[in-house]
Amino acid sequence: MAKILVTGGAGYIGSHTIVDLVEKGFQVVSIDNHHNSSPKAIDNVSKIVGQNIQNYAIDLCDAHQVAQVFETHPEIEGVIHFAALKSVGDSVSDPIFYFRNNMGGMINILEQVQKHQVKAFIFSSSCTVYGNADELPVTESTPMKPAESPYGRTKQFGEQMIQDIAPVCPDTNFISLRYFNPAGAHPSGLIGESAMNKATNLVPVITETANGKRASMSVFGEDYDTRDGTCIRDYIHVMDLADAHTKALQFALEGRAKNNTEVFNLGIGEGVSVLEAIQAFEKTSNTTLNYTMGPRREGDVVAIYADKSKATTLLGWNPSKGIEDIMRTAWAWELDRKY
Ligand code: NAD
Ligand code: WQD
Repeated sequence: MAKILVTGGAGYIGSHTIVDLVEKGFQVVSIDNHHNSSPKAIDNVSKIVGQNIQNYAIDLCDAHQVAQVFETHPEIEGVIHFAALKSVGDSVSDPIFYFRNNMGGMINILEQVQKHQVKAFIFSSSCTVYGNADELPVTESTPMKPAESPYGRTKQFGEQMIQDIAPVCPDTNFISLRYFNPAGAHPSGLIGESAMNKATNLVPVITETANGKRASMSVFGEDYDTRDGTCIRDYIHVMDLADAHTKALQFALEGRAKNNTEVFNLGIGEGVSVLEAIQAFEKTSNTTLNYTMGPRREGDVVAIYADKSKATTLLGWNPSKGIEDIMRTAWAWELDRKY
């Protein structure tokens, strides 16, 4: 039973991934300072898996405390590094804070990975590294464009740091996972998306509007060159994403990678427009959403969706959930939020 360190384990994707890891036989410890998460997330993960998950509420930017976790758990075989700040807008207003947290935390973790010759390191990257891609669907070799925000740059830097560190860490297999648009919640209703900041992503904005927390919502742009004029994205259910992490971890631990750095796209490979997402919500929730057609949002790419064939072929990953499953579970979570 390999022991895995999950950073950002109380966060949205981290908490769902811990459930999947434990259900598939891994032992997990977490580091999360709750900058953007509730301690209840870890309590509820523990309820779902029927065992106590230990979280160290420390800041990854504190190199000494990070080192102590590795000294306390010398048997850590893999690290899944989720912990980062993720608001595109905040990163534009305070880039130093973003660089310090996301790069500083990652350096401290990578230092311990190198020191302890950890076998597997999985990094949360993002489709944001592609920017406004020239070709669709995007493959892992689609060229990166200059990042649209300091946040996006922290993901490009993170991937590049791995490329530079990998040659001096021959015992470690590094994997960067480029998520498209994660959404939805665990079917138990015990964990879901619950950022401390005001939600700006489409799915929580829809569910909060339908639940009366917002009077109405705006569709950002209706005159794009797409089938209905609204932007297209690849929405991926958080439990399919969690499953991909476990599969990537197994791939890295078993040394199945040809090189010690790999990159995978994680999306379902289908583009869904904003209006199609709203229709899927209205159908699954049996409600009518109060929305208006509004102006474009600055910085939005017109359309992006993944070619997921590399993850399917090499990891054996076959996401099974679509936009209606996403809306059904996100709505159930919103109606009975536990934190
Ligand atoms: P989240 O904010 O819910 O989770 C991140 C967790 O990391 C939070 O619980 C936060 O408290 C913790 N954290 C941040 N900085 C820390 C630090 N210095 N020390 C200790 N803990 C710290 O975010 P998420 O949606 O679960 O995203 C997880 C990862 O996936 C992030 O790296 C994010 O950039 C990336 N990502 C997210 C999305 C998305 O849309 N949710 C898309 C692509 C990539
Ligand atoms: C989706 C679509 C909006 C809200 C962001 C980050 C990206 C990655 C994933 C981390 C867009 C439209 C939204 C609203 C709307 N995160 N929308 N009304 O922008 O694709 O990606 O999260 O790495 O880096 O930028 O996601 O959920 O904000 O938007 O019409 O109130 O919904 O214009 O077309 P996005 P999103």
